[in-house]
Amino acid sequence: MEQRKLKLGGIIDGVGWNHTGWRHPGMPADGSENIDYYAEKAIQLEEAKFDLIFLADVSHIGPGMIPHYLSMFEGVSILSALSMVTRSIGLAATIATSYADPFTVARQIASLDKISRGRAGWNAVTSNPGGLVNYSRGHLRKSDLYPMQKEFLDIVEGLWDSYEDDAFIRDKESGVFYDPRKMHALNYRGNYFSVDGPLNVSRSRQGRPVVFQAGTSPTFMDIAARHAEVIMAPGDDFAYLTGYAAELRSKAAAQGRSPHDLLMMPSQNPIVGETEQEALDKMREIESWMPRGYRMPKPTFMGSAEQVADRIERWHLAGLMDILLIRQDHPEGFADFIRLVVPILRDRGLFRTEYEHDTLRGLLELPYPEHRHANSHR
Ligand SMILES: Cc1cc2nc3c(=O)[nH]c(=O)nc-3n(C[C@H](O)[C@H](O)[C@H](O)COP(=O)(O)O)c2cc1C
Repeated sequence: MEQRKLKLGGIIDGVGWNHTGWRHPGMPADGSENIDYYAEKAIQLEEAKFDLIFLADVSHIGPGMIPHYLSMFEGVSILSALSMVTRSIGLAATIATSYADPFTVARQIASLDKISRGRAGWNAVTSNPGGLVNYSRGHLRKSDLYPMQKEFLDIVEGLWDSYEDDAFIRDKESGVFYDPRKMHALNYRGNYFSVDGPLNVSRSRQGRPVVFQAGTSPTFMDIAARHAEVIMAPGDDFAYLTGYAAELRSKAAAQGRSPHDLLMMPSQNPIVGETEQEALDKMREIESWMPRGYRMPKPTFMGSAEQVADRIERWHLAGLMDILLIRQDHPEGFADFIRLVVPILRDRGLFRTEYEHDTLRGLLELPYPEHRHANSHR
């Protein structure tokens, strides 16, 4: 099967996924709760023809956490706003299955999918047990998180198929609004959740939102091999990722899925310059804002634009990076990458120059999910 072209995603995380980036002169210090800043970044990523905007999340905080976490917007709310200032780029939010409620999540993400005309994705993480006490689930243990997640995913996917694609007729002449035979209840009974359905949101232009998952353990892999379409993977070690991707793909194949349609998305914080020295200077600049004695771990993708493009090409061709997800440690991180690296990727035929689609599924070249009851009336 022919390999997809490289896809690009950008994580927008306010003032940055670090302790000191907010102090940089080029960074609005209130970036994490500034919708204009998010809109500016979204438009920048869409102008560069990125595939998606991705939001990571945290649901419990305390002293000592990074400034971004201390006061930040909820993901679906941000993405709904961003859907109105963009047209083609995908919009994926992280919501933990350990904390949330499946009917609410199915409804929120399906609504985002319709509001954005088929551009939504959901990153279903277990997260860590620390947040349970914020969601009245302090009685649960870490060992509950994956069994609960399995139920959660089954329910959400089931609810997303509450209506068949042609259920709504809306014919004013005959007075027929919808075909009740094409509405399906779920009637799910589990150990953690019981949900009757149907969901009160119909399917979108992309069928249903794209499911992302992130984790590393064997239990994670077993569930992700069944449900995930995109895997957010740790991005710092080529050898580790080689084994990780092979294992996930073989587990997906064992489930009867095409391993080709399980996309690997390592996240990176590239620091690039016109020369290697310029990239190094940028890293020193970030370090200069840190408390004395602190050093920043050297990013895996760092150096001159050519060096970074070479590395991206190698990881992509090895099947380890269907999507490169970048976050920015330096306020010019996205701008530098778009100005210096993206043109090289285009020259090498690795990345698009124009959008071919305007749904997330279309951009990622993922198959349209048939409705689970399609053809049941024939
Ligand atoms: C690459 C990656 C990204 C993750 N992103 C998030 C996140 O944004 N929010 C969150 O609450 N947990 C996140 N997680 C944590 C996972 O949901 C999970 O709690 C963690 O990986 C431990 O589970 P595991 O041992 O099964 O991997 C992430 C994990 C990985 C590996």
